[in-house]
Amino acid sequence: MEKWSKTIQFESKNKQNEVWICNDSKTEKRYNVEVTLGKPVDILSLKLNMVEDFNLSVKKIRNLRISMFKGSLQHVDFCPICKCETKDSKEVFKVYGAKYHQCSNCSHLFVIERPTKKALNEFYSKDKLYQKTYTDKRTTEIRIKQVAIPKAEWVIKQFKRIHGRDPKSILDVGAGSGWTTALLAEIVGERGKVFAIEIVPELKEFGERNVRQYEFIKKGIVKFILADGSKGYPSIDSCPELAEGFDRILASASAREIPQAWKEQLKVGGRIVAPIDSSIWVLIKESEKNFKKIEYPGFAFVPLISEQ
Ligand SMILES: C[S@@+](CC[C@H](N)C(=O)[O-])C[C@H]1O[C@@H](n2cnc3c(N)ncnc32)[C@H](O)[C@@H]1O
Ligand SMILES: [Zn+2]
Repeated sequence: MEKWSKTIQFESKNKQNEVWICNDSKTEKRYNVEVTLGKPVDILSLKLNMVEDFNLSVKKIRNLRISMFKGSLQHVDFCPICKCETKDSKEVFKVYGAKYHQCSNCSHLFVIERPTKKALNEFYSKDKLYQKTYTDKRTTEIRIKQVAIPKAEWVIKQFKRIHGRDPKSILDVGAGSGWTTALLAEIVGERGKVFAIEIVPELKEFGERNVRQYEFIKKGIVKFILADGSKGYPSIDSCPELAEGFDRILASASAREIPQAWKEQLKVGGRIVAPIDSSIWVLIKESEKNFKKIEYPGFAFVPLISEQ
């Protein structure tokens, strides 16, 4: 068990230098800490609770993980990225008791023992505490304020920096719960438009009902469409505001390749962000025929269903 101490006791000064010492039975680690009052993060109050709270949380999560997946872990035999056998991979660290290995072929880091599909399905469908992270209004509002809104603001700033104007039109393929649709609606603002396509009728209803709570539909910012999004937006020809195409196309389900319709329905200068197999692709339309591709590997998505 680690034991923490520090060289200087608290004094009511604005600034002091301390050495924090961490001892376990074998080693001693020393950290030089500059303690200052009035920083955005109030380290004086933070340090009072930090170490103890942190150790407690880690212990709690580690135990929770062990009890949740007891008896339902399976060994990962192939690297999730390059598919090489994992028999030569080495353990590099543990997070909350989960062992991470590094692939000897592609260096990818992954959990070597992961829960079976059955265990995960049971957990996601039955665990009330987990479900609460999405349905509890108070924590959701905190997440929106601290994570979603700053992200949306950053995206708007970047768009303005690149294009010198606000984004006008976004196609949201695989609208599902309407979460991404609502964020995109926030981004395009009062004068923009988000076209949300969903292929599953029940999900289209669900997403539309969720987004309706925020007046985006009433104000004409969001339109929900029940259709196969791999074919693009079906009524684009009868929409004068889409004469030049979409500023952005976002897909939340993974295809084998970027559908031709998306390339055609994208404005020159516009971008498609879409999962392709287990990567996220960003495709920038540089001219009618030329696209620049940036690939970010290492993701897992639900498949884009195509009606053919
Ligand atoms: C990861 S989920 C939804 C994510 C969603 N953007 C959200 O914020 O909740 C992917 C969605 O894509 C939908 N989907 C799959 N293939 C589709 C297709 N060809 N056209 C439209 N939606 C599709 C699925 O039904 C599913 O709702
Ligand atoms: Zn690998």
